[in-house]
Amino acid sequence: MPGFAPVLVTRDPGLIRAIATATSDQPGDFDRDTLPSTGIARATGADTLLFANGPLWRRQRKLAAPPFGKTTLFQPELFHEFETTFRHTVSRRLDLLRNHLTTSGQNRLRVQLEPEIKSVMLEMLANNFFGAELPYEDIRNRHVPALERVIDHIVRDTVTNRLGVPVHKLPGFSKAIARVQADYACFEQLTDAVLAPRKAGKGLWRQFKSDAPDEALRSNIKVFLAGALEATTSFASWTISHLARNAAAQERVFLDVKEIDDYSPEHLAGARYFDSVLNETLRLTPSLYFLPRRATADTWVETADQRKLMIPQGTHILLDVWHANRHEDHWGREATGYSAIDFAPERWANLAAKGRDSKDILHFGFGHGPRVCPGKYLGHLEVALVVGAFVKMFTFQAVNRDNRAKAGVSTKPLDGTLLDLQLRQQPAPVAVS
Ligand code: HEM
Repeated sequence: MPGFAPVLVTRDPGLIRAIATATSDQPGDFDRDTLPSTGIARATGADTLLFANGPLWRRQRKLAAPPFGKTTLFQPELFHEFETTFRHTVSRRLDLLRNHLTTSGQNRLRVQLEPEIKSVMLEMLANNFFGAELPYEDIRNRHVPALERVIDHIVRDTVTNRLGVPVHKLPGFSKAIARVQADYACFEQLTDAVLAPRKAGKGLWRQFKSDAPDEALRSNIKVFLAGALEATTSFASWTISHLARNAAAQERVFLDVKEIDDYSPEHLAGARYFDSVLNETLRLTPSLYFLPRRATADTWVETADQRKLMIPQGTHILLDVWHANRHEDHWGREATGYSAIDFAPERWANLAAKGRDSKDILHFGFGHGPRVCPGKYLGHLEVALVVGAFVKMFTFQAVNRDNRAKAGVSTKPLDGTLLDLQLRQQPAPVAVS
Protein backbone atom coordinates (compact mmCIF):
# COMPACT_ATOMS: atom_id res chain seq x y z
CA MET A 1 0.00 0.00 0.00
CA PRO A 2 1.36 3.44 -0.88
CA GLY A 3 2.86 5.14 2.16
CA PHE A 4 3.28 1.89 4.13
CA ALA A 5 6.33 -0.34 4.40
CA PRO A 6 5.80 -3.70 2.64
CA VAL A 7 4.85 -6.68 4.79
CA LEU A 8 5.84 -10.29 4.12
CA VAL A 9 4.19 -13.15 6.01
CA THR A 10 5.63 -16.57 5.30
CA ARG A 11 4.92 -20.08 6.49
CA ASP A 12 7.48 -21.63 4.14
CA PRO A 13 10.05 -23.44 6.36
CA GLY A 14 12.76 -23.05 3.69
CA LEU A 15 12.29 -19.29 3.61
CA ILE A 16 12.01 -19.06 7.41
CA ARG A 17 15.30 -20.88 7.72
CA ALA A 18 17.03 -18.71 5.10
CA ILE A 19 15.87 -15.42 6.68
CA ALA A 20 16.61 -16.57 10.25
CA THR A 21 20.11 -17.65 9.16
CA ALA A 22 20.70 -14.20 7.64
CA THR A 23 19.57 -12.24 10.73
CA SER A 24 22.68 -10.71 12.22
CA ASP A 25 24.76 -7.54 12.42
CA GLN A 26 26.46 -7.97 9.03
CA PRO A 27 25.76 -5.36 6.33
CA GLY A 28 22.65 -6.31 4.34
CA ASP A 29 21.53 -8.89 6.91
CA PHE A 30 18.06 -8.81 8.47
CA ASP A 31 17.32 -7.18 11.81
CA ARG A 32 14.85 -8.41 14.38
CA ASP A 33 11.85 -6.16 13.73
CA THR A 34 11.41 -4.03 16.85
CA LEU A 35 7.82 -2.98 16.04
CA PRO A 36 6.13 -5.88 17.93
CA SER A 37 8.34 -5.37 21.00
CA THR A 38 8.07 -1.61 21.57
CA GLY A 39 6.06 -2.29 24.75
CA ILE A 40 8.77 -4.67 26.02
CA ALA A 41 11.44 -2.05 25.35
CA ARG A 42 9.47 0.60 27.27
CA ALA A 43 9.18 -1.82 30.19
CA THR A 44 12.74 -3.12 30.27
CA GLY A 45 14.93 -0.65 28.36
CA ALA A 46 15.88 -0.68 24.68
CA ASP A 47 19.51 -1.81 25.12
CA THR A 48 18.60 -5.48 25.55
CA LEU A 49 19.60 -8.63 23.76
CA LEU A 50 16.00 -9.03 22.65
CA PHE A 51 15.40 -5.54 21.32
CA ALA A 52 18.80 -4.34 20.11
CA ASN A 53 20.12 -4.80 16.58
CA GLY A 54 23.55 -4.27 14.98
CA PRO A 55 26.74 -3.86 17.05
CA LEU A 56 24.86 -3.30 20.33
CA TRP A 57 23.10 -6.67 19.92
CA ARG A 58 26.45 -8.35 19.10
CA ARG A 59 28.04 -6.96 22.31
CA GLN A 60 25.07 -8.06 24.43
CA ARG A 61 25.14 -11.51 22.87
CA LYS A 62 28.85 -12.00 23.65
CA LEU A 63 28.31 -10.91 27.25
CA ALA A 64 25.35 -13.21 27.81
CA ALA A 65 26.73 -16.26 26.02
CA PRO A 66 29.00 -17.83 28.71
CA PRO A 67 26.52 -18.37 31.57
CA PHE A 68 23.82 -19.79 29.28
CA GLY A 69 25.85 -21.76 26.74
CA LYS A 70 25.79 -25.53 26.48
CA THR A 71 29.49 -25.77 27.29
CA THR A 72 29.06 -23.92 30.58
CA LEU A 73 25.69 -25.19 31.69
CA PHE A 74 26.57 -28.81 31.05
CA GLN A 75 30.03 -28.77 32.65
CA PRO A 76 29.58 -31.71 35.02
CA GLU A 77 30.18 -29.77 38.24
CA LEU A 78 27.98 -26.83 37.37
CA PHE A 79 25.31 -28.97 35.82
CA HIS A 80 24.94 -31.10 38.92
CA GLU A 81 24.80 -28.06 41.15
CA PHE A 82 21.93 -26.55 39.15
CA GLU A 83 20.24 -29.85 38.46
CA THR A 84 20.19 -30.76 42.15
CA THR A 85 18.79 -27.44 43.31
CA PHE A 86 16.28 -27.37 40.43
CA ARG A 87 15.21 -30.91 41.31
CA HIS A 88 14.75 -30.07 45.00
CA THR A 89 12.68 -27.04 44.12
CA VAL A 90 10.44 -29.01 41.77
CA SER A 91 9.97 -31.90 44.18
CA ARG A 92 9.14 -29.54 47.09
CA ARG A 93 6.40 -27.95 44.99
CA LEU A 94 5.05 -31.28 43.78
CA ASP A 95 5.03 -32.55 47.36
CA LEU A 96 2.65 -29.73 48.22
CA LEU A 97 0.24 -30.97 45.55
CA ARG A 98 0.72 -34.55 46.71
CA ASN A 99 0.03 -33.61 50.34
CA HIS A 100 -3.03 -31.71 49.29
CA LEU A 101 -4.32 -34.84 47.61
CA THR A 102 -3.52 -37.18 50.48
CA THR A 103 -4.85 -34.94 53.26
CA SER A 104 -8.06 -34.15 51.38
CA GLY A 105 -8.78 -37.88 51.41
CA GLN A 106 -9.78 -37.70 47.75
CA ASN A 107 -7.99 -39.66 45.13
CA ARG A 108 -8.55 -37.04 42.45
CA LEU A 109 -7.83 -33.32 42.40
CA ARG A 110 -8.96 -30.78 39.80
CA VAL A 111 -6.32 -28.11 39.36
CA GLN A 112 -5.38 -25.34 36.96
CA LEU A 113 -1.69 -25.98 36.64
CA GLU A 114 -0.42 -22.86 34.86
CA PRO A 115 -0.03 -20.69 38.01
CA GLU A 116 1.87 -23.52 39.72
CA ILE A 117 4.15 -23.98 36.72
CA LYS A 118 4.84 -20.24 36.57
CA SER A 119 5.79 -20.07 40.23
CA VAL A 120 8.16 -23.02 40.05
CA MET A 121 9.74 -21.65 36.86
CA LEU A 122 10.35 -18.26 38.46
CA GLU A 123 11.69 -19.90 41.61
CA MET A 124 14.18 -21.97 39.60
CA LEU A 125 15.30 -18.95 37.62
CA ALA A 126 15.51 -16.43 40.47
CA ASN A 127 16.72 -18.60 43.35
CA ASN A 128 18.57 -21.51 41.76
CA PHE A 129 19.99 -19.92 38.62
CA PHE A 130 20.58 -16.34 39.76
CA GLY A 131 21.27 -17.34 43.39
CA ALA A 132 18.59 -15.12 44.99
CA GLU A 133 16.85 -16.13 48.21
CA LEU A 134 13.24 -15.19 47.70
CA PRO A 135 10.69 -17.03 49.84
CA TYR A 136 8.38 -19.20 47.73
CA GLU A 137 5.27 -17.47 49.14
CA ASP A 138 6.55 -14.11 47.86
CA ILE A 139 7.25 -15.61 44.44
CA ARG A 140 3.83 -17.30 44.25
CA ASN A 141 1.69 -14.53 45.71
CA ARG A 142 3.51 -11.33 44.85
CA HIS A 143 6.09 -11.58 42.09
CA VAL A 144 4.28 -13.91 39.70
CA PRO A 145 0.95 -11.98 39.79
CA ALA A 146 2.79 -8.65 39.43
CA LEU A 147 4.86 -9.98 36.51
CA GLU A 148 1.73 -11.37 34.85
CA ARG A 149 0.11 -7.94 35.02
CA VAL A 150 3.31 -6.27 33.77
CA ILE A 151 3.35 -8.67 30.81
CA ASP A 152 -0.35 -7.98 30.07
CA HIS A 153 0.43 -4.30 30.26
CA ILE A 154 3.34 -4.74 27.84
CA VAL A 155 0.98 -6.33 25.28
CA ARG A 156 -1.62 -3.55 25.65
CA ASP A 157 1.09 -0.90 25.67
CA THR A 158 2.55 -2.17 22.38
CA VAL A 159 -0.81 -1.84 20.68
CA THR A 160 -2.23 1.30 22.28
CA ASN A 161 0.47 3.59 23.72
CA ARG A 162 1.06 5.64 20.62
CA LEU A 163 2.79 8.41 22.60
CA GLY A 164 5.43 6.00 23.83
CA VAL A 165 5.28 7.22 27.44
CA PRO A 166 7.03 4.84 29.87
CA VAL A 167 4.76 3.72 32.69
CA HIS A 168 6.77 5.40 35.48
CA LYS A 169 6.14 8.76 33.78
CA LEU A 170 2.36 8.31 33.63
CA PRO A 171 0.54 10.39 36.26
CA GLY A 172 -0.87 8.04 38.92
CA PHE A 173 -4.36 9.53 38.72
CA SER A 174 -6.37 6.39 38.22
CA LYS A 175 -6.46 3.20 40.26
CA ALA A 176 -5.50 1.17 37.20
CA ILE A 177 -2.38 3.25 36.52
CA ALA A 178 -1.41 3.16 40.21
CA ARG A 179 -1.79 -0.66 40.13
CA VAL A 180 0.44 -0.94 37.05
CA GLN A 181 3.04 1.31 38.68
CA ALA A 182 3.02 -0.85 41.83
CA ASP A 183 3.50 -3.94 39.63
CA TYR A 184 6.43 -2.33 37.85
CA ALA A 185 7.93 -1.45 41.26
CA CYS A 186 7.62 -5.12 42.25
CA PHE A 187 9.41 -6.06 39.00
CA GLU A 188 12.26 -3.67 39.97
CA GLN A 189 12.52 -5.33 43.41
CA LEU A 190 12.69 -8.74 41.78
CA THR A 191 15.48 -7.44 39.52
CA ASP A 192 17.35 -6.11 42.59
CA ALA A 193 16.97 -9.49 44.29
CA VAL A 194 18.58 -11.40 41.41
CA LEU A 195 21.37 -8.84 40.93
CA ALA A 196 22.29 -8.85 44.63
CA PRO A 197 23.99 -12.33 44.62
CA ARG A 198 26.38 -11.12 41.89
CA LYS A 199 28.87 -9.75 44.45
CA ALA A 200 29.10 -13.08 46.26
CA GLY A 201 29.42 -14.96 42.93
CA LYS A 202 26.44 -17.19 43.61
CA GLY A 203 24.60 -19.26 40.99
CA LEU A 204 25.31 -18.32 37.40
CA TRP A 205 27.11 -15.15 38.46
CA ARG A 206 30.28 -17.18 38.95
CA GLN A 207 30.34 -17.72 35.17
CA PHE A 208 29.66 -14.11 34.33
CA LYS A 209 32.92 -12.37 33.46
CA SER A 210 32.26 -8.68 33.09
CA ASP A 211 33.01 -5.55 35.07
CA ALA A 212 29.89 -3.80 33.76
CA PRO A 213 28.09 -2.13 36.66
CA ASP A 214 24.83 -3.71 37.86
CA GLU A 215 22.89 -0.78 36.42
CA ALA A 216 24.11 -1.70 32.91
CA LEU A 217 22.72 -5.23 33.33
CA ARG A 218 19.26 -4.35 34.64
CA SER A 219 17.43 -4.22 31.34
CA ASN A 220 18.74 -7.60 30.19
CA ILE A 221 17.99 -9.19 33.55
CA LYS A 222 14.41 -7.97 33.23
CA VAL A 223 14.17 -9.45 29.73
CA PHE A 224 15.52 -12.76 31.04
CA LEU A 225 13.08 -12.81 33.95
CA ALA A 226 9.94 -11.90 32.00
CA GLY A 227 10.90 -13.65 28.75
CA ALA A 228 12.11 -16.86 30.34
CA LEU A 229 9.11 -17.05 32.65
CA GLU A 230 6.76 -16.72 29.68
CA ALA A 231 8.60 -19.13 27.40
CA THR A 232 9.31 -21.89 29.93
CA THR A 233 5.75 -21.72 31.28
CA SER A 234 4.41 -21.95 27.75
CA PHE A 235 6.62 -24.93 26.86
CA ALA A 236 5.92 -26.89 30.08
CA SER A 237 2.17 -26.10 30.02
CA TRP A 238 1.80 -27.23 26.43
CA THR A 239 3.75 -30.44 27.06
CA ILE A 240 1.56 -31.37 30.04
CA SER A 241 -1.59 -30.31 28.14
CA HIS A 242 -0.76 -32.59 25.22
CA LEU A 243 0.06 -35.51 27.50
CA ALA A 244 -3.18 -34.91 29.40
CA ARG A 245 -5.07 -35.63 26.18
CA ASN A 246 -2.97 -38.61 25.20
CA ALA A 247 -2.87 -41.36 27.84
CA ALA A 248 -0.68 -43.67 25.74
CA ALA A 249 1.99 -40.99 25.27
CA GLN A 250 1.83 -40.18 29.00
CA GLU A 251 2.52 -43.83 29.85
CA ARG A 252 5.42 -44.02 27.43
CA VAL A 253 6.98 -40.91 28.98
CA PHE A 254 6.51 -42.48 32.41
CA LEU A 255 8.39 -45.61 31.26
CA ASP A 256 11.18 -43.37 29.96
CA VAL A 257 11.60 -41.31 33.13
CA LYS A 258 10.59 -43.61 35.95
CA GLU A 259 14.20 -44.64 36.64
CA ILE A 260 15.64 -41.16 36.05
CA ASP A 261 16.40 -38.87 38.94
CA ASP A 262 19.27 -37.01 37.44
CA TYR A 263 18.33 -35.20 34.23
CA SER A 264 21.84 -35.02 32.84
CA PRO A 265 22.11 -34.70 29.05
CA GLU A 266 23.25 -38.37 28.88
CA HIS A 267 20.21 -39.60 30.81
CA LEU A 268 17.89 -37.42 28.80
CA ALA A 269 19.43 -38.65 25.57
CA GLY A 270 18.37 -42.17 26.66
CA ALA A 271 14.79 -40.97 27.18
CA ARG A 272 14.09 -41.01 23.45
CA TYR A 273 10.33 -40.94 23.57
CA PHE A 274 10.30 -38.09 26.11
CA ASP A 275 12.67 -36.17 23.84
CA SER A 276 10.22 -36.72 20.91
CA VAL A 277 7.38 -35.43 23.10
CA LEU A 278 9.34 -32.24 23.79
CA ASN A 279 10.17 -31.80 20.11
CA GLU A 280 6.59 -32.50 19.07
CA THR A 281 5.31 -29.96 21.61
CA LEU A 282 7.56 -27.23 20.25
CA ARG A 283 6.56 -28.15 16.71
CA LEU A 284 2.80 -28.18 17.17
CA THR A 285 2.56 -25.44 19.78
CA PRO A 286 5.67 -23.24 19.68
CA SER A 287 5.92 -20.61 22.42
CA LEU A 288 6.16 -17.80 19.87
CA TYR A 289 3.64 -17.63 17.02
CA PHE A 290 6.03 -15.78 14.76
CA LEU A 291 9.56 -14.41 14.63
CA PRO A 292 9.68 -10.76 13.52
CA ARG A 293 12.34 -9.56 11.05
CA ARG A 294 13.04 -6.42 9.04
CA ALA A 295 14.96 -6.05 5.78
CA THR A 296 17.75 -3.48 6.27
CA ALA A 297 18.47 -3.37 2.51
CA ASP A 298 17.03 -4.76 -0.72
CA THR A 299 18.03 -8.38 -0.16
CA TRP A 300 17.99 -11.56 -2.22
CA VAL A 301 17.42 -14.63 -0.10
CA GLU A 302 18.02 -18.12 -1.38
CA THR A 303 16.53 -21.25 0.14
CA ALA A 304 18.42 -24.56 0.46
CA ASP A 305 16.49 -25.84 -2.58
CA GLN A 306 17.69 -22.85 -4.64
CA ARG A 307 14.51 -20.78 -4.71
CA LYS A 308 15.23 -17.05 -4.71
CA LEU A 309 13.20 -14.11 -3.45
CA MET A 310 13.98 -10.38 -3.45
CA ILE A 311 12.83 -8.64 -0.29
CA PRO A 312 12.74 -4.83 -0.51
CA GLN A 313 14.42 -2.66 2.13
CA GLY A 314 12.17 -1.81 5.07
CA THR A 315 9.90 -4.86 4.66
CA HIS A 316 8.33 -6.03 7.92
CA ILE A 317 8.62 -9.83 7.91
CA LEU A 318 6.61 -12.25 10.01
CA LEU A 319 8.16 -15.71 10.02
CA ASP A 320 4.94 -17.54 10.80
CA VAL A 321 6.32 -20.54 12.66
CA TRP A 322 2.93 -21.63 14.07
CA HIS A 323 1.46 -22.25 10.61
CA ALA A 324 4.70 -23.47 9.02
CA ASN A 325 4.75 -26.24 11.63
CA ARG A 326 1.17 -27.25 10.82
CA HIS A 327 1.69 -27.31 7.06
CA GLU A 328 0.64 -30.71 5.70
CA ASP A 329 3.17 -30.51 2.82
CA HIS A 330 6.06 -30.26 5.26
CA TRP A 331 4.92 -32.12 8.37
CA GLY A 332 2.04 -34.24 7.10
CA ARG A 333 1.35 -37.92 6.47
CA GLU A 334 3.54 -38.25 3.43
CA ALA A 335 6.61 -36.71 5.08
CA THR A 336 6.21 -37.99 8.64
CA GLY A 337 3.49 -40.66 8.70
CA TYR A 338 1.05 -38.52 10.73
CA SER A 339 -1.24 -35.62 10.03
CA ALA A 340 0.51 -32.28 10.59
CA ILE A 341 -2.18 -30.99 12.95
CA ASP A 342 -2.05 -34.02 15.30
CA PHE A 343 0.13 -34.39 18.38
CA ALA A 344 2.13 -37.47 17.37
CA PRO A 345 5.55 -37.81 19.03
CA GLU A 346 6.00 -41.03 17.01
CA ARG A 347 6.60 -38.93 13.87
CA TRP A 348 10.11 -38.15 15.16
CA ALA A 349 11.06 -41.85 15.14
CA ASN A 350 9.78 -42.05 11.53
CA LEU A 351 11.87 -39.05 10.59
CA ALA A 352 14.92 -40.52 12.35
CA ALA A 353 14.44 -43.77 10.43
CA LYS A 354 14.68 -41.70 7.24
CA GLY A 355 17.92 -40.19 8.53
CA ARG A 356 16.33 -36.86 9.41
CA ASP A 357 16.21 -35.30 12.86
CA SER A 358 15.30 -32.03 14.54
CA LYS A 359 18.56 -30.49 13.28
CA ASP A 360 17.64 -30.66 9.61
CA ILE A 361 13.88 -30.64 9.84
CA LEU A 362 13.38 -27.56 11.93
CA HIS A 363 10.46 -26.60 14.17
CA PHE A 364 12.07 -23.24 15.09
CA GLY A 365 10.87 -23.68 18.67
CA PHE A 366 14.00 -21.93 19.92
CA GLY A 367 14.41 -19.84 16.76
CA HIS A 368 17.30 -20.45 14.40
CA GLY A 369 20.53 -18.80 13.27
CA PRO A 370 22.57 -16.12 15.04
CA ARG A 371 19.58 -14.95 17.08
CA VAL A 372 18.66 -18.42 18.31
CA CYS A 373 17.49 -18.48 21.94
CA PRO A 374 20.48 -18.20 24.31
CA GLY A 375 18.36 -19.77 27.09
CA LYS A 376 17.69 -22.89 25.02
CA TYR A 377 19.67 -25.34 27.16
CA LEU A 378 18.60 -23.86 30.46
CA GLY A 379 14.95 -23.75 29.36
CA HIS A 380 15.04 -27.27 28.01
CA LEU A 381 16.53 -28.59 31.25
CA GLU A 382 13.94 -26.77 33.39
CA VAL A 383 11.00 -28.00 31.31
CA ALA A 384 12.29 -31.58 31.20
CA LEU A 385 12.69 -31.56 34.99
CA VAL A 386 9.24 -30.18 35.69
CA VAL A 387 7.41 -32.41 33.21
CA GLY A 388 9.47 -35.50 34.07
CA ALA A 389 8.89 -35.10 37.81
CA PHE A 390 5.19 -34.43 37.25
CA VAL A 391 4.68 -37.52 35.10
CA LYS A 392 6.51 -39.64 37.66
CA MET A 393 4.22 -38.56 40.46
CA PHE A 394 0.78 -38.23 38.83
CA THR A 395 -1.47 -39.52 36.12
CA PHE A 396 -3.57 -36.73 34.70
CA GLN A 397 -6.40 -36.10 32.26
CA ALA A 398 -7.49 -32.85 30.64
CA VAL A 399 -10.88 -31.55 31.75
CA ASN A 400 -11.60 -30.10 28.29
CA ARG A 401 -11.24 -32.10 25.11
CA ASP A 402 -10.13 -29.20 22.94
CA ASN A 403 -6.62 -27.92 23.38
CA ARG A 404 -6.95 -24.38 22.06
CA ALA A 405 -4.36 -21.63 22.34
CA LYS A 406 -4.56 -18.24 23.99
CA ALA A 407 -2.33 -15.53 22.62
CA GLY A 408 -0.17 -13.16 24.63
CA VAL A 409 3.56 -12.50 24.64
CA SER A 410 3.79 -16.27 24.25
CA THR A 411 1.21 -18.93 23.38
CA LYS A 412 -0.38 -21.02 26.15
CA PRO A 413 -3.26 -23.47 26.53
CA LEU A 414 -6.54 -21.53 26.70
CA ASP A 415 -7.83 -23.50 29.71
CA GLY A 416 -4.79 -22.65 31.87
CA THR A 417 -3.86 -26.37 31.80
CA LEU A 418 -6.93 -27.54 33.70
CA LEU A 419 -6.42 -31.14 34.81
CA ASP A 420 -7.72 -33.94 36.97
CA LEU A 421 -4.78 -35.42 38.86
CA GLN A 422 -4.32 -38.74 40.58
CA LEU A 423 -1.29 -39.97 42.47
CA ARG A 424 0.49 -42.82 40.69
CA GLN A 425 1.28 -44.56 43.93
CA GLN A 426 -1.24 -44.35 46.69
CA PRO A 427 0.57 -43.42 49.93
CA ALA A 428 1.15 -46.25 52.38
CA PRO A 429 -1.53 -46.25 55.12
CA VAL A 430 -0.38 -44.43 58.26
CA ALA A 431 0.09 -46.88 61.16
CA VAL A 432 -2.22 -46.15 64.10
CA SER A 433 -0.88 -47.23 67.46
C1 HEM B 1 12.32 -23.20 27.25
C2 HEM B 1 11.70 -22.23 26.80
C3 HEM B 1 12.13 -21.18 25.79
C4 HEM B 1 11.66 -21.06 24.52
C5 HEM B 1 10.65 -21.97 23.83
C6 HEM B 1 12.30 -19.89 23.94
C7 HEM B 1 12.09 -19.44 22.65
C8 HEM B 1 12.82 -18.44 22.04
C9 HEM B 1 12.77 -18.12 20.62
C10 HEM B 1 11.88 -18.80 19.59
C11 HEM B 1 13.65 -17.10 20.40
C12 HEM B 1 13.99 -16.49 19.04
C13 HEM B 1 13.20 -15.26 18.73
C14 HEM B 1 13.53 -14.73 17.32
O1 HEM B 1 14.24 -15.36 16.56
O2 HEM B 1 13.03 -13.64 16.98
C15 HEM B 1 14.24 -16.74 21.67
C16 HEM B 1 15.15 -15.73 21.86
C17 HEM B 1 15.60 -15.34 23.09
N1 HEM B 1 15.42 -16.02 24.29
FE1 HEM B 1 14.36 -17.71 24.57
N2 HEM B 1 13.14 -19.33 24.88
C18 HEM B 1 13.08 -20.09 26.02
C19 HEM B 1 13.80 -19.89 27.19
C20 HEM B 1 14.61 -18.81 27.43
C21 HEM B 1 15.35 -18.59 28.66
C22 HEM B 1 15.36 -19.55 29.85
C23 HEM B 1 16.00 -17.38 28.50
C24 HEM B 1 16.92 -16.65 29.43
C25 HEM B 1 17.03 -16.85 30.70
C26 HEM B 1 15.68 -16.86 27.16
C27 HEM B 1 16.14 -15.67 26.63
C28 HEM B 1 16.03 -15.32 25.29
C29 HEM B 1 16.64 -14.10 24.71
C30 HEM B 1 17.43 -13.04 25.47
C31 HEM B 1 16.37 -14.12 23.33
C32 HEM B 1 16.84 -13.10 22.28
C33 HEM B 1 18.18 -13.53 21.73
C34 HEM B 1 18.73 -12.66 20.62
O3 HEM B 1 18.00 -11.95 19.97
O4 HEM B 1 19.95 -12.75 20.37
N3 HEM B 1 14.85 -17.77 26.54
N4 HEM B 1 13.73 -17.58 22.64
